[in-house]
Amino acid sequence: MDHPNISWEVELENLFDSIQEEIDQASSTYIIIDEKISQIWLNDVLEQCPQLAKANIIEIPEGEACKEWEILHHIWEQWIEDKADRQALLINIGGGSTTDLGGLAAALYKRGIGFVNVPTTLTGMVDAAIGGKTAINFHHIKNSIGTFQDADQLIVCPVFLESLPEEELLSGFAEMIKHSLIADASLWEAYNDLEEINAATIVPFIKRNIQIKNHIVFEDPFEENIRKQLNFGHTLGHALESYWLEKQTPLSHGYCVALGMKYATALSVQLDTEAKTEITAFLDEIFPNPEQMPEWNDLLIYLNQDKKNQKGSLKFTLLTSIGHAVHDQSVDWEEAQNCYNRCFQSN
Ligand SMILES: NC(=O)c1ccc[n+]([C@@H]2O[C@H](COP(=O)([O-])OP(=O)(O)OC[C@H]3O[C@@H](n4cnc5c(N)ncnc54)[C@H](O)[C@@H]3O)[C@@H](O)[C@H]2O)c1
Ligand SMILES: [Zn+2]
Repeated sequence: MDHPNISWEVELENLFDSIQEEIDQASSTYIIIDEKISQIWLNDVLEQCPQLAKANIIEIPEGEACKEWEILHHIWEQWIEDKADRQALLINIGGGSTTDLGGLAAALYKRGIGFVNVPTTLTGMVDAAIGGKTAINFHHIKNSIGTFQDADQLIVCPVFLESLPEEELLSGFAEMIKHSLIADASLWEAYNDLEEINAATIVPFIKRNIQIKNHIVFEDPFEENIRKQLNFGHTLGHALESYWLEKQTPLSHGYCVALGMKYATALSVQLDTEAKTEITAFLDEIFPNPEQMPEWNDLLIYLNQDKKNQKGSLKFTLLTSIGHAVHDQSVDWEEAQNCYNRCFQSN
């Protein structure tokens, strides 16, 4: 698997300079963009980037709601009607939902057309738009239909973060914290030195985060070993996310992952106490525990479904020190429960 070409810290007026050749050579160009991002950004993008004047715009529902079969169907119908061929080019402008959907649409159409990801969320920039995973949800099961297909290009334009709600920004920052904990102690130190967490203070770290994810994905594209470390915090995180979603009081993915990272930190037997305290204190400050955490028993149904759990034992990625992780660590159910209660049910 190759690293995609990446354009860093691009200004809006230069958004598509790096893909001018691809646009010129494409038989047709499509932009997939969600309704909300379109409302905020599309006019500016088209005004500043005249090379896309002839692009066909496909608007999709906002956020996660676009990752549905009907939307995929609608996109392919349009391409077939337009007689789009294999030289068509797709540009996905949006968060992880848009790049997951658009990537899948491009990967399967005529056995694959080229596509470019232009992430507009922090999660997209440091995580979702890189690494080749594409998917839709099916029968309410998240990411159940998908494939691995790398984008040809990744264009990072931090200007988009200006309109991103704080909750979404912090959600992406949780993944950035994860990268530092599993792979880069000096990055962790740098986060700890931040006086404030906002788009301006976080942007300088985007490049390093993309390098970390790219490096891990390059080593293990199909998640057979080291890529599993990117799931740090996600075993409990996914269970919490599903639990609150079903209760119709959703909490952002990153928030749930941050809670999951506190838990996985506590479970990390090889990690020294000082490091545990440091990690928990930092996470608590940005992602305090919600007043009401679910009972352990209410999470079992979600934990049992976790794709990392094989043959009935719970599998985690755990830390050995700040910046180093080990994957596929089995934890027995009793210890998992006791640790959960220690972390979240102590008062
Ligand atoms: N493929 C992967 O490796 C991978 C990794 C992580 C997450 N994901 C997927 O990504 C999805 C989540 O993506 P996300 O967190 O980037 O959010 P998202 O794409 O779901 O968007 C979240 C919300 O933010 C809005 N938004 C996006 N950019 C904006 C901007 N610049 N200004 C204002 N509003 C903006 C969207 O309209 C939407 O309402 C999930 O479906 C998840 O499964 C995939
Ligand atoms: Zn995640």
